[in-house]
Amino acid sequence: MDWGLKNRLSRIVQPKTGKTVMLAVDHGYFLGPTSGLEVARETIKPLAVWADSLMLTRGILRTSVDPETAPPIVLRVSGGPSILGELSNEGISVAMEDAMRLNVAACALSIFVGSPHEKENILNLARLVNEGTRYGIPVLAVTAVGKDMKRDARYLALACRIAAEQGAHMVKTYYCEEFEKVVQTCPVPVVVAGGKKTPEKEALQMAYDAIKLGAVGVDMGRNIFQSDDPVAMIQAVRAIVHKKATVNEAYEIFSKTKSKKQAPSKTGVGNTWED
Ligand code: R5P
Repeated sequence: MDWGLKNRLSRIVQPKTGKTVMLAVDHGYFLGPTSGLEVARETIKPLAVWADSLMLTRGILRTSVDPETAPPIVLRVSGGPSILGELSNEGISVAMEDAMRLNVAACALSIFVGSPHEKENILNLARLVNEGTRYGIPVLAVTAVGKDMKRDARYLALACRIAAEQGAHMVKTYYCEEFEKVVQTCPVPVVVAGGKKTPEKEALQMAYDAIKLGAVGVDMGRNIFQSDDPVAMIQAVRAIVHKKATVNEAYEIFSKTKSKKQAPSKTGVGNTWED
């Protein structure tokens, strides 16, 4: 593997533990001012120091993250439709030159397997891998799920494997029953998305199970930034991912660290969509 590509990947997946905690804050690219991310800078700033990487769009990167202190960046480079449109109708939205100018550690793009636009999505992934390979930039494929698609092992394994076959260097998917089948049949590292907000202990259990069944880490958004205490929550997630903490140990870290501060999601002006 190319030196630059390997170097970038090791900025995401920590060599010491072989794991990663990615903080996903890219939701606005199709959800607009998502609850908890209304003022992205305020949400991201206290969390960034705890994240191995930030997954976000170039707009939020440029406006809401300081270049001097940013962790490695996984740049969302696909987009097009909003939550009100046909989600799968995405294209590549960022030139590789701009991603390089932003010094990204990786680019991320969604594929909606089984959607009306799956062929275009998958060919866009292949194109991004071709461009990334030219400059040593890895690609994270996001196995997105359309409104009516089922998040089961059969579907997610299909999507993850197709992404890897097209050359994705990492794949992000959802947790599901028989998650081990998804990981075992995908030849590149798999990170698990958090999905919609659940009680903290449930989200920690999901992260624990995913790691136990072979995920290389989490790429978690709403279950962190919509938590009662996002900073306490990301520390609890880190304990599971990097320190092999049990769910109870991690929940104790969450409870002890929890501050009295009001979470950003309580500003109440952001949207919550069941995506
Ligand atoms: C969705 O397409 C976005 O890429 C999110 O980054 C992803 O869903 C992970 O965030 P969450 O943990 O909120 O599901």
